[in-house]
Amino acid sequence: MFRAVRSDFGWLFYFGKTLKNSYFCSLNQTIFLRQMNILLLGSGGREHALAWKIAQSSKVSQLFIAPGNPGTASLGINLPIATDDFSALKKAVTEYKIDLVVVGPEDPLVKGVVDFFATDKVLMNVPVIGPDKFGAQLEGSKDFSKQFMFRHNIPTAGYLSVTGDNIEEGIKFLKKLKAPYVLKADGLAAGKGVLILDDLDETISELEAMLEGKFGSASKTVVIEEFLAGIECSVFVITDGKNYKILPEAKDYKRIGEGDKGLNTGGMGAVSPVPFCTPEFMQKVENRIIRPTVEGLYSEGINYKGFIFFGLINIQSEPYVIEYNARMGDPETEAVMLRLKSDIVDLFEGVAQGNLNEKSVEFDKRTAVTVMLVSGGYPEDYEKGKVITGLDKIKNSIAFQAGTSLKNGKLVTNGGRVIAVSSYGTDKNEALNQSFKNAQLIDFEKKYFRRDIGFDL
Ligand code: AMP
Ligand code: GLY
Repeated sequence: MFRAVRSDFGWLFYFGKTLKNSYFCSLNQTIFLRQMNILLLGSGGREHALAWKIAQSSKVSQLFIAPGNPGTASLGINLPIATDDFSALKKAVTEYKIDLVVVGPEDPLVKGVVDFFATDKVLMNVPVIGPDKFGAQLEGSKDFSKQFMFRHNIPTAGYLSVTGDNIEEGIKFLKKLKAPYVLKADGLAAGKGVLILDDLDETISELEAMLEGKFGSASKTVVIEEFLAGIECSVFVITDGKNYKILPEAKDYKRIGEGDKGLNTGGMGAVSPVPFCTPEFMQKVENRIIRPTVEGLYSEGINYKGFIFFGLINIQSEPYVIEYNARMGDPETEAVMLRLKSDIVDLFEGVAQGNLNEKSVEFDKRTAVTVMLVSGGYPEDYEKGKVITGLDKIKNSIAFQAGTSLKNGKLVTNGGRVIAVSSYGTDKNEALNQSFKNAQLIDFEKKYFRRDIGFDL
């Protein structure tokens, strides 16, 4: 039926029962405002934060999350589909008339979800935010990313890639370096594939163990790198393959212990903005790293439409790339989404349509932080299924759920990283105090969190 409604754009005329999923035409200008059904892949805190941001967009009709978590269930419809079950995703895209897919984690990208959509007759017109399998090697293969950086003169540590065939050359290279020594499994190794060691003999034995399959096929090739000493930060870009927009930067805190001690984790907290990412530093990052990366991808004909996460190190105000990721960071996203004022779905449309240059990105000037509540024992063995209480008590923070599930109607822990408590503040301390206050109110057995997030900024 033909209907009319008054809106910000003047009178809108549309066909159909509701405003959702309708094309609008106003009297004074022709605008096509089609609301979209969006499918977001993933189930962590990053995806809860992305879902929170996507759900705020006026361009969204219905948000689906596969598989999602109890947190995302309050923002959209969770679908019980694994992110790498491509045939089930195809069914869901058809059944729920999905217009756009957003990929949260790296795993489906590295496994080729973008290629699957691009080569399927039914799915080929559904844009996917994420690089194809070849482009995802920026994250999926350290050797690929080092070669790429060297081809495009992007500042990074010196390296040598070693396989079973040139191990002697690898040992010679190690002997020329100074401690500490950096060994990296070429492929994805669940965040555990990087070893930093002080002793040369131990490094040589570890190199041999890695080549013999310490990290399975991921360490058939090992990248030996020069050690870079500096302070790290995460810079995020969204690109349509040619144009790019820089998102708010963040610093994450990877070690389990306060003062950055102990084992590496997925990330214990994040702060955005990063004070040492001054306009001068960010100009160097853009000129020497971001632009050459996007131009390099384009000139090599790599189909990269999605996020690029630059893991950088600042050495006396000079930026170097430690690693690329083909996705947003976790827990950085739980802070960065708070600072992104622009409509993220508008940016996704720009990526899909190749006109990201026409979009604008606005940042919130406030500081945003996130503090991760984790299960006692993490990143080593920990128990799951602990009842989580107190979420109803928190005020002026957002509790993004990471490792949670519902059991007999109760919210329980279901992972190492459980809840990311994100807050705004006029400065870092105000934001952190807010998160720490609320972190005390949320409870589960053996809860642990770092009380020194942001200590070095
Ligand atoms: P990656 O998975 O490549 O990000 O490495 C994990 C962590 O190891 C990084 O976040 C750094 O803290 C550290 N790291 C990696 N490569 C280097 C390097 N060349 N020099 C110093 N630290 C490094
Ligand atoms: N926080 C680091 C990462 O997402 O890899």
